[in-house]
Parts: sequence; C-alpha cells; structure tokens
Amino acid sequence: MTQPFDAIILGAGAAGLMCAIEAGKRGRRVAVLELADRPGKKILISGGGRCNFTNIHCRPENFLSANPHFAKSALARYTPEHFLALIKKHNIAYHEKTLGQLFCDHSSRQILDMLLAECADAGVEIIVGTRTEQVEHAGRFTLCTSKGIFNSPALAVATGGLSIPKMGATSFGYDIARQFGINIVPTRPALVPLTLSSEDCTKLRDLTGVSTEVIASIGRQRFREKLLITHRGLSGPAILQISSYWTRSKSLELDLAPEKQLFTPMLSTSAGRDATRAASLLRDTMPQRLADRLITLAAPASWTNHAIQQLETKFHRWPVTPSGTEGYDKAEVTAGGIDTNELSSTTMECKRIPGLYFIGEVVDVTGHLGGFNFQWAWASGAAAGRSL
Ligand code: FDA
Repeated sequence: MTQPFDAIILGAGAAGLMCAIEAGKRGRRVAVLELADRPGKKILISGGGRCNFTNIHCRPENFLSANPHFAKSALARYTPEHFLALIKKHNIAYHEKTLGQLFCDHSSRQILDMLLAECADAGVEIIVGTRTEQVEHAGRFTLCTSKGIFNSPALAVATGGLSIPKMGATSFGYDIARQFGINIVPTRPALVPLTLSSEDCTKLRDLTGVSTEVIASIGRQRFREKLLITHRGLSGPAILQISSYWTRSKSLELDLAPEKQLFTPMLSTSAGRDATRAASLLRDTMPQRLADRLITLAAPASWTNHAIQQLETKFHRWPVTPSGTEGYDKAEVTAGGIDTNELSSTTMECKRIPGLYFIGEVVDVTGHLGGFNFQWAWASGAAAGRSL
C-alpha cells in the first residue's frame, strides 16, 4: 500500500528536521525517512557533546562554495537570532564559548529533543530504520523502501555528507543527484586534521599533544587559533579551519608567533647569540619543548644579523607541506557536493526538476568551524521547508 504525503524528507539530521518543522507548521503532511535506528546522531556528538549550534557572527564569508553568493539568501532569511528564539522558547541554557560560538550549557541532547518536540507539534512523522531502495519520478516522487512505498509531490534530500562513515554517513544524496543528472562539485574532506610525511612526523612525534597559538594561512585566507601536534601530523582549530582551503597544489604557512618580535634582542648584542638564547626567547611564546625543537630544526650555521633576521621571518612564515588529510573518517564535514548552480538560492529546489530539493551538508556550501555548519543546515532546511 502506498503512503501519500505532501512532502518526504530523506534524513533526520539537522537540515532534515528543520525542513520538516517549517513544512509541518505550514500544514503540510510530512514524512522524514531516516536510515539509522534513531534521528540526529551527529547532533548528539557535536561540539564535544554540547552542540555548537550556531555562531552569532555568521556572515557569508564564513562559508566555502564554488559560488560564494549562493548561501546569502537562505542565511539572511534564517539567522542565528531565529534559531536562538527557538532555544529560548525551549528554555535551553547556553553560553558563548569564544568567537561568537554558542554552545549548550548542558547537553546537545537538548537540541535534538527540541527539534523532535517541534516536529511532533507540527505533526511530522519520523520513520527510522528506513532504507530507500528506489526513487522514481513521474510527476510525483515514489520511494520504494524497507518500510513500504511512499509517495509525494516534493522530495527533500537531507542525507548529509561523507564524513564519519562509522556514524552512518552515506553517498545516497549524491547518488540521487546522479540519477537525476544533477551536477556535483567534487567532494573532499574538510575541517580535517592534516598529515605530514613520515620524515616530518618523526621530527615532531614525541611532541604529540603540544599546542600553541598560530596564524595558519593559505593565500589571503588566515585563521588565528590553536595548532595541535598529533602523532600523524597537525590538528587543532587553526589547522582544521585552513584544511578546508588546502589542496595539494597550495602551500600552507604558519605564523608561529603572531604579532611578536622574537629574536630582536639578539641583534643588539654580540653576547648570547646562539641556539640556547634563541630557544629561551621562544619559550616566552610557546611551550618549552616545542620552542627547543623548532630552534634545533631551524638554527642557522652562524648567528649573523642577517641569519637572525631570516630566522625571525621563518618563524612568521613557517612553510608546511602536508602529505594529505586524515580523510572522511576524521573530517567534521564534506566540502563540495550538489552544484549550487542547479538550485534556487531562495528555496533549494532544483531548477530543472521541480519538487526535488537538496539541503544541508550534501550541498556545495561548507561552513568554517564554530557553529556555521549547523547554521547552514538550519537556514537551508528552513528555506526548503517554507517552499515544499
Ligand atoms: P547530517 O549528517 O546531520 O544528517 C544526515 C542524516 O541523513 C543522518 O541522520 C543520516 O543517518 C541520514 N541518512 C544518510 N543516508 C540516508 C539514506 N540513504 N536514507 C535516509 N537517511 C539517510 N557543526 C556545527 O555547526 N557545530 C558543531 O558543534 C559541530 N560538531 C560536529 C562534530 C562532529 C564529530 C562532526 C562529524 C560534525 C560536526 N559538525 C558541527 C558538523 C555538523 O554535524 C554537520 O554539518 C550537520 O550535521 C549537517 O547536517 P545535515 O542534516 O546536512 O546532515
């Protein structure tokens, strides 16, 4: 027996649930079909269990996309203030951690419970453990699933990206796009730790866990945050942020001492011009073990004024050549995805296939670290939910 709905949403993650709420509030009969045995798994693990649910400084510049203008419309019509209104309605205590990042005081479970309560109020049916085997389109969309046949004039694909396959990430959204001949911008892991060659790793491996503030930059893109040394390479917020811009053809630089003059005192005297003095100056800026190691790696053969000035420059423009990334297993998000040229920026509906929508991470819009990816999920979900 076919179950008819006004709208079917594939995926009960952040974008799918928001889309369902907005559509349900408009009186639409909505079904959300979720592959996993429960909804919102990524919401639960997000932000270290406290869900960094938005960022109050959200601007279009915080997003990567082949078309940097695409996200503007949805982001302007569903802002962090809209989501905060929902948070306040449900009395969820929150705080700003840093740089506009809003986190729950207690648990990300509260965000999921809030979304599920809003879905229930809006009459949304969430059907978990549902595997969609086939999608047919003949005026309406017909979905053959492990829970029967579903039918509706509108289908929103909110199946997320490829990150963290062990949490149930699938390529299903891209597969549907291919089925309908919709272009996909090549995907890649983003917000992901970078790996170093085994030679470079060996130089740093015993410093695993050491962190320091840096500016990581590629071209004009710069992030001033912490860097963390890992047993496979580099991580920490500065590296995760810049990883979204890194490709093998691009060179990455680190300012290891932002806004500091490190070795100037060595220029004014001929005494103490050696590695020991340089390391002691560097220890004011970063952990001692890291300072000592970097001086060992970079010390000049002779400590002339010119060599000291070059050392100063090197610490502010330290070149890094990653060997790769830790891949989708460790990536917080997937960059690339459904080509935004295929979609209406106001509704997320496919221009060539009326009734078919793509929302959230599956679309070629990727946020910086800090609550921006959820804001995109809310905004794109709301845009589609107000239309389908
Ligand atoms: P999402 O992945 O949330 O949901 C997709 C849903 O579709 C899932 O429930 C999945 O099971 C389901 N699905 C997949 N295939 C299906 C199929 N064939 N049929 C039916 N359902 C299917 N962002 C942020 O802003 N703040 C933060 O604090 C964090 N923290 C964070 C931590 C970790 C560890 C990760 C991996 C990621 C984050 N993120 C984040 C990123 C954020 O979680 C992500 O951008 C959003 O969850 C994307 O929302 P979507 O709804 O698009 O996908």
